[in-house]
Amino acid sequence: MPITGIYGPDDFANRPQGQTITHVAPARTGPALPMPSLEWTPEVERATAPLYERLKHVIPPIEWPLMAPTIHAINELKRARNAVILAHNYQAPEIFHGVADIGGDSLQLAVEATKVKADVIVQCGVHFMAETSKLLNPDKTVLIPDSRAGCSLAASITGADVRLLREKFPGVPVVAYVNTSAEVKAEVDICCTSSNAVQVVESLNAPTVIFLPDRYLATYVASKTDVKIIAWKGACEVHERFTGDELRAFREADPSVQIIAHPECPPDVLAEADFTGSTAHMINWVRERRPKRLVMITECSMADNVRAELPDVEMLRPCNLCPHMKRITLSNILESLLTLGEEVTIDPALAERARRSVERMINLKN
Ligand code: 13P
Ligand code: SF4
Repeated sequence: MPITGIYGPDDFANRPQGQTITHVAPARTGPALPMPSLEWTPEVERATAPLYERLKHVIPPIEWPLMAPTIHAINELKRARNAVILAHNYQAPEIFHGVADIGGDSLQLAVEATKVKADVIVQCGVHFMAETSKLLNPDKTVLIPDSRAGCSLAASITGADVRLLREKFPGVPVVAYVNTSAEVKAEVDICCTSSNAVQVVESLNAPTVIFLPDRYLATYVASKTDVKIIAWKGACEVHERFTGDELRAFREADPSVQIIAHPECPPDVLAEADFTGSTAHMINWVRERRPKRLVMITECSMADNVRAELPDVEMLRPCNLCPHMKRITLSNILESLLTLGEEVTIDPALAERARRSVERMINLKN
């Protein structure tokens, strides 16, 4: 059914202005390690050859000598720092396949973050992902190579907005997409990702649920459940740009093409897709179906990361770049490991409340 109502900042006259909390310390007060050599040597070539084997379909040979020394240095430094690198599916292939220990969608990264044994976690993704890792690993050092890596969804809503929604709809449970700040997570009943949003909403056994902040994911969830959904006027700046016309043009040009889309896209886009799912669900779909020609309606790097693994699948690329994800680079990952910056910190009392919402999601039975 359609969503029952949609609210945004303009709907609350008494909304407090401009409160965003940043939980980042610029650098740690530990000793920085010396910059390693970044020369392309026979040793670097040998050590990185297995990685290039994986990346050869998406990185031209001429570019590899420019990247490989930094990749090699990062992989050495991970050992020195007892660090792991978590990378979202939207990270560039040289990061996702070159230096990450664990890759995946938001749910996989949140779950894997609970199992990490290392002292240091470097989050290659956006800030809310690093915050989620910190929530689940309060005693570890969690670093984000560039704390400006934000997200239009996370920026669309504050903790005060959630309190205003609760005042307007007393007793209605609130589900927050993980694409929110810890401050918002602290105000809600449970989190969800695009992998489990319908399951989370239904787990509450309530006739009506407030689902925030993504209006399009809310619309998608509402189409899959009988629970009434009250939404927030947030949107992903990357996925809201796709149009149904674009998808129809691809299909007209080649009726055999398969089109898969992320549920952050508007409904007219999803109506044209052969499959809708989270980034991990999309990847699994491609692994199982092995379409000859594929359009992935999502962030550009995901097509590269899938192509590195499945070079036989021809990717048509009407993708959009996420400028926030692209703030993370090999150079700032190296810098992060050398200086142990930028460290993500969250006020312990707020973290306690936010962690409950994330853990409640993780502990849901499949
Ligand atoms: P996933 O949970 O599907 O990886 O999505 C996260 C995200 O930010 C998509 O834009
Ligand atoms: Fe946020 Fe959209 Fe970027 Fe994902 S792709 S991090 S939802 S802005």
